[in-house]
Amino acid sequence: MPGVFIKTYGCQMNERDSEAVAAQLVAKGYTLAPSEAAADVILLNTCSVRDFAEQKAIGKMQNLAADVRKNRPDVVLGFMGCMAQSRGQELIDRLPDVDLVLGTQKFHHAADYLDEILAGCRDKIVDVAAEPGSEATIREHLLNGSGKKSITAYVSIMQGCNQRCTFCIVPDTRGEERSRSIPDIVAECRQLVSQGVKEITLLGQIVTSYGKREKRDAWRVACGTGDPSPVTRHPSRTSPFVQLLDAVHEIEGLERIRFTAPHPKGYGDDLIQAYARLPKLVESAHLPVQSGSDRVLKLMHRGYTRERFLGLVKKLRRAKSNIGITTDIIVGFPGETEDDFEQTLALAREVEFDNAYIFKYSQRRDTPAAEMPGQVPLKIREERNHRLLETVNEIGKRKYDAFIGRRTQILVEGPSKKNPARMTGRTRCNKIVVFDGAERHRGQLLDVKITRAGSFTLYGDPAVVNL
Ligand code: 5AD
Repeated sequence: MPGVFIKTYGCQMNERDSEAVAAQLVAKGYTLAPSEAAADVILLNTCSVRDFAEQKAIGKMQNLAADVRKNRPDVVLGFMGCMAQSRGQELIDRLPDVDLVLGTQKFHHAADYLDEILAGCRDKIVDVAAEPGSEATIREHLLNGSGKKSITAYVSIMQGCNQRCTFCIVPDTRGEERSRSIPDIVAECRQLVSQGVKEITLLGQIVTSYGKREKRDAWRVACGTGDPSPVTRHPSRTSPFVQLLDAVHEIEGLERIRFTAPHPKGYGDDLIQAYARLPKLVESAHLPVQSGSDRVLKLMHRGYTRERFLGLVKKLRRAKSNIGITTDIIVGFPGETEDDFEQTLALAREVEFDNAYIFKYSQRRDTPAAEMPGQVPLKIREERNHRLLETVNEIGKRKYDAFIGRRTQILVEGPSKKNPARMTGRTRCNKIVVFDGAERHRGQLLDVKITRAGSFTLYGDPAVVNL
């Protein structure tokens, strides 16, 4: 049977999509090739969020195409995911060795399209159309990839984003917000838990908007008015996302729940209270702030102010004092002045994020910010990136060092990637802990004593591991 190799760029949603496509292909009789060199089909699952990510995937495909043309003309090459969606046919025009371009609502057709290409029935296939219901097609998992049980799993709860931040290409690449139903998601989670999964991360481009569109539509139908009543007037005070958390929390045998990514604007009090109410919801929040300047936040169309963001952090820490908070920040957004940037630096110092992912602003096609005046020169973006990174790392180091000497609970996931002789787990606040454990610890909740802190990694003392 043909062997497939999928290389994934970008976010956890892409990781999850690749896993589902791989599982669907395996179900149809394909095998998973251990390397590109051994594969009959090579798919690149792409990211469009910054130009750098696109260039990386295009460069990779150019190398693959050159090799395939020279040495292995029968190998099938494909792009899938966000860049496939935004560029479509253009990718084949530029790279004529590419056989398949599969958009973000079409992952579940991968097997059929590859069958047709491999059988010689069709030459090139480009499918980037919208497909109603596609949000519910990412459901298959590969839990025993290495023959070992997976302890953690991602579950895709929705697709798309309606927020339209002015810098962001995601609404174009992922489409309108569409959510799966609670029973559908819970059934998938139950299945995972029955196969040994202990921790589930609920995934979506904007999980705080989960079910909002569907809820509003249902409300309009129920009222018989067709009136676009705002969701806040709905009688239920609990947002659909918190209803989903409640439902997943009920699953027996599930130990931990995480989610990503929320939008600070949609982070309601009911979600904050959920941390205090639901013991399986771990003390961790990824809160993308993007900027510390109100002027820039407005230009970005973020829908909150610096003060509201700081208020949210305060409320979360009041609910759970030891919550781990991480963020995304863009430096050099069009029009960002030195003063705006210093407000971002000050915000990072004030919040003391456990970690922050910093991005140099990148112009994306058909986004409003790409046309805004005051584009910031690369040199300044790099310099701001460097300064912010120093601040974030210094704070992160202090926060990680503060764990030394503490006992903390970890869920053991498996061997460490860097050093497979050691085991790795994560704290509830989402910090990686490496320790001298053994395969039998996989899936266990262990108390370890932290002895050392590296850069964004903690090390546990095996002497006090509960055996
Ligand atoms: N330029 C730089 N960073 C971006 N991000 C999204 N769009 C852009 C862009 N045009 C960052 C945001 C987002 C993260 C996933 O990627 O910080 O939260």
